[in-house]
Amino acid sequence: MDLKIAVLAGDGIGPEISEQGVAVMTAVCEKFGHQVTYQYAICGADAIDKVGDPFPEDTFKACMEADAVLFSAVGDPKFDNDPTAKVRPEQGLLAMRKKLGLYANVRPVETFECLIHKSPLKDELVRGADFICIRELTGGMYFGEKYQDDEKAYDTNFYSRAEIERILRVGYAYAQRRRKHLTVVDKANVLASSRLWRQVAKEMATEYPDVQTDFMYVDNAAMRMIQDPRFFDVMVTENTFGDILTDEGSCISGSMGLLPSASTGEHTPVFEPIHGSWPQAKGLNIANPLAQILSVAMLFEYFNLEAEGKLIREAVNASLDANVRTPEIQVEGGAKYGTKEVGAWIVDYIKKK
Ligand code: IPM
Ligand code: MG
Repeated sequence: MDLKIAVLAGDGIGPEISEQGVAVMTAVCEKFGHQVTYQYAICGADAIDKVGDPFPEDTFKACMEADAVLFSAVGDPKFDNDPTAKVRPEQGLLAMRKKLGLYANVRPVETFECLIHKSPLKDELVRGADFICIRELTGGMYFGEKYQDDEKAYDTNFYSRAEIERILRVGYAYAQRRRKHLTVVDKANVLASSRLWRQVAKEMATEYPDVQTDFMYVDNAAMRMIQDPRFFDVMVTENTFGDILTDEGSCISGSMGLLPSASTGEHTPVFEPIHGSWPQAKGLNIANPLAQILSVAMLFEYFNLEAEGKLIREAVNASLDANVRTPEIQVEGGAKYGTKEVGAWIVDYIKKK
C-alpha cells in the first residue's frame, strides 16, 4: 500500500515523540512492503512563532493531501499565563479538528498487566478494564458561540440532532464489534443539550437491538470509572465531558504516556496521543513515546492493516516486559531508558521479527 503521512510534531515533547512514531512507522512499512512518504508541517506555538498562525493554510493543505496525519502535541506555557493572548497554540488543534471534520475521537482505555501497580487505583479494580471512549470532537462548548468581556463571559453548548446522531452511530458501530454495551454519558438532569442527546439515543437504540444501551449522568460516570471501570465497554459522550473523562481514564492505565487516540470524520483521519506537550520535559529525553507509537498502530488498523498494528502492539508489550521503559513507569532500580532508547528498542524488535 502507498501511504502519504502528514507529520505534525508541534510543541514541547511533540518533536521527540514524533520522531519515534515516524521511526516505528517506517520500520513497519519496510517490513510489510508499504511505500510511505512523509510531509512535515508546522502547528501550535511553533507555527505561531514562525508564521503567526497555529494551523497555517500550508499545514491544512498537507493534511488534506495526506492519507493520514500523525500528530503529536501542541501547547506552550508562555500562552497559558497570558489571558490576553489573541492566539493560542490549542486553537491550532481545534482548527485542525474542525477543518478536517474530525467529529469522532476514539480513545481506548486499556490496562497492561505489568503496569497494573502503576495505577493509583487498586490492582483488583483495574485489572481487565478495557473500554473505549468515543468523544464527540467538533461540537459543544468548544465550538459554540462564545463571548467574553471584563464582566461576563459564556460558551454555548450547542448540539444539532445530526451531530448527535452521527457520533452515536460511531458508538454503536464500536459496540457491535465489541461487547455490545453502549453507555451514553450526559447531564440530562440539567442540560438541554444533554436531553436532546438522550432523546436521539433512545430513538436510535431501537435500531440496534443487539446492543445494550444505557444512560449515565457524567458525574456518576466519573465515579463509576474509578469504582468499577470494567462496567464500561463503549461510552459515547459530548466534547467537554469526553475531554475530562479520558484524562481520568489514563489513571486506569497508569500513565498519560500510554494512551493513543484516533480522530476520524469527513476528511483525513488524525492519530495522536491523548496527552499534551509537557513543556517541562522538552528536550530531556524522558517523555514516554508509547502513546504516539500506539497511535501509529491505530493508524494501520484504520486502513485494515491488522497485522501491522498487531506487530506494534506486540513490540510495545515486549518492551514493557523487558523493562525498557521511560522513567515514569520504570520499575524500581530498573535501567534508565529515554524516549529515544525506548523507540529504538521497539524499532529493533520490529526489524528482527
Ligand atoms: C485533548 C486536549 C485538547 C482538548 C486541548 C489541548 C485543547 O486536552 O485532546 O484532550 O481539550 O481537546
Ligand atoms: Mg484533554
